[in-house]
Amino acid sequence: MTNDRVRTLVEDLERTLVEFIRTHRVTHAEYRSATDVLVAEVQAGEGSLLFDVFLEAAATDTDNHGRPGSVEAIEGPFYLPGAPWLDGPPYVLPQRPEEPGMPLVFHGTVTTETGEPLAGVELDLWHADANGQYSQIHPGIPEWNLRGRFRCDGHGRFEVRTIAPPPYEIPKDGPTGRVLDALGRHYFRPAHLHVKLRHPRFGERTSQLYFPGGEYLDSDVANAVRRELVMDVHVVDDPARTARHDLKEPFVDAR
Ligand code: DHB
Ligand code: FE
Repeated sequence: MTNDRVRTLVEDLERTLVEFIRTHRVTHAEYRSATDVLVAEVQAGEGSLLFDVFLEAAATDTDNHGRPGSVEAIEGPFYLPGAPWLDGPPYVLPQRPEEPGMPLVFHGTVTTETGEPLAGVELDLWHADANGQYSQIHPGIPEWNLRGRFRCDGHGRFEVRTIAPPPYEIPKDGPTGRVLDALGRHYFRPAHLHVKLRHPRFGERTSQLYFPGGEYLDSDVANAVRRELVMDVHVVDDPARTARHDLKEPFVDAR
């Protein structure tokens, strides 16, 4: 971000907030309790959670506006770089011997916006376990559980075995939970897979994919569901499911 851009944005934010204080006649005590909440978020390590819940989806919409190809989605606060490369194919996301949850085969293609296959695209997949918990974020889960990287084949196809995550409750015992409580909102996000794609042709894209008919699709606490991000899911051998999603990447050079 250039200095000019920083100045434009920060000065407008300042004007907007000063105006807000005047419009609502915010008192000094109210001002201090609001800043105390932000400080508590940061001290609890939840700063990113708070901002991602309330604002990240809107910023993602900016990036998607007028951009061809698949829509990008929020990264959320629980991405970790450096997930292990999986052996395969066939690829299986790292999991415990008796990993709870419905078996899920996630598959699809990565093509250009005109449907030409993109070979060798890196997929970096991460999602919650059957208890709605993420490795390295929630305690007691093996380090890279349900996180891993693999590549699509020479025809742009990919397939990986994992388990289906449930709707996910964001951490509610910390300051973000208290803010949601005060607003009378629930803490749930619909079940989702996170995936980043990387390729020299387009750099990096962040997606997040949802299950059709899933709970909270219409009331996501992070307001991040976009209909293009809902997968095509079939029950194969109950309770096992396949989830298909085709990703299209615009032909641009990596920045
Ligand atoms: C948020 C997003 C996620 O994908 C997630 O798993 C948890 C929280 C969020 O926007 O806060
Ligand atoms: Fe998530």
